[in-house]
Amino acid sequence: MKQQSPIEEIKESIKFIWVHRKGNDAHAAVQDVIDAIWPTAPKPKIEKKIKLSGEAYRFIIALGAGLGYKEFKGREQLFGDAMGGTCQIEKRGKVITMQASTAEIKKEYPYAFDPSKHKGYLPIHCGWSATGEVVEDLADIINLIIAGHPKAGKSNFLHGLIMNILQNKKAFTRIVVFDFKRLEYSYLKNHVLLVTQNEMAPIVFKTLNDKLDKRLAILEAADCVKIHEYLEKGGEMPFIPVIIDELAEMADEECQTYLNRLLRLGRAAGFLVICATQRPSSTMMKAFGDSKAMFTGTLCFHVRDAINSLMLLDNDRASLIPNNPGRGVFQWDNEVEIQAMYLPVKKARQLLKDIDRVEVMNFVEQPQKRLPPR
Ligand SMILES: Nc1ncnc2c1ncn2[C@@H]1O[C@H](COP(=O)(O)OP(=O)(O)OP(=O)(O)O)[C@@H](O)[C@H]1O
Ligand SMILES: [Mg+2]
Repeated sequence: MKQQSPIEEIKESIKFIWVHRKGNDAHAAVQDVIDAIWPTAPKPKIEKKIKLSGEAYRFIIALGAGLGYKEFKGREQLFGDAMGGTCQIEKRGKVITMQASTAEIKKEYPYAFDPSKHKGYLPIHCGWSATGEVVEDLADIINLIIAGHPKAGKSNFLHGLIMNILQNKKAFTRIVVFDFKRLEYSYLKNHVLLVTQNEMAPIVFKTLNDKLDKRLAILEAADCVKIHEYLEKGGEMPFIPVIIDELAEMADEECQTYLNRLLRLGRAAGFLVICATQRPSSTMMKAFGDSKAMFTGTLCFHVRDAINSLMLLDNDRASLIPNNPGRGVFQWDNEVEIQAMYLPVKKARQLLKDIDRVEVMNFVEQPQKRLPPR
């Protein structure tokens, strides 16, 4: 190794003291990891540090010549560990940003959400990360798969998600909930189309599929590629979130075929499919073939082994996060560790009092303002 001159040594130690000065912990942790992984040039350089709210920071990083984004992104967890918090690396155009926080995610966050404060058709609260709330538009996510071991918090997340949608006054929606455990969602029976009987499931799925065909014809006639375009032109068409808790219980092959079709073709016509399952590795995945590709978003709560995490996320992260109900890894545009909000049924019942009931009999067949055919 090349000997450093005394001047260089002094320069190095001044840099070290500067980086490690009080209040600079996050910066120091990032710099230490960079120096440890890339001891010699070319190495990534912190161009800018921006303080966000609380203990969160955004670093703008310049990758050294010959260093790839993928390689840098691969070290995300190391940076997070060094900060005793979390880290998220993103690429926007040519700029590499690192959103980091030295704060730990709390064990519990009570349900509190106002959809009108967020943009998009159907903003949903995906949980709290170390850098703040993660809110995304379900109309963009489209199909979401939720997995995690028993009692990891899957159903609670669904209760919250349904409430997010019901509280939304901007978008017109009709929610369908399949609850194969039969009791958990009964409090919603006046607000969603609730399917708890196994024999009803194929009938409802068939209705949804017929509806899908009709909608595709309406869109085609109006010369719209997807529902977003149709709504922007002034047409009316409710989004139909189809929520299935404990997907592995849905053994009926007819239902599986119908669901598969909704997953493949429903997105253009406003069908948003959200499925929860304890066992992503077993029958369910086989029944849907290339199902993972059809689920554009993934929320994986704690799983017991790396294999289940790998199946869902392509990495082992969901087996390494704390085994705390509601803690998960949300993967869509990006990947982020979250703690879902906690919505006990008692509180959900209270919130429902402020939400209009829905006539469930002609649920999916609502009168619509149609755009004239072109
Ligand atoms: N986000 C959360 N914050 C705090 N506690 C939670 C959270 N989510 C769930 N819990 C707790 O964990 C319990 C189990 O949650 P939930 O019923 O949602 O798990 P699940 O994954 O659906 O389980 P199962 O696979 O058995 O259906 C809840 O009754 C609640 O006490
Ligand atoms: Mg459950």
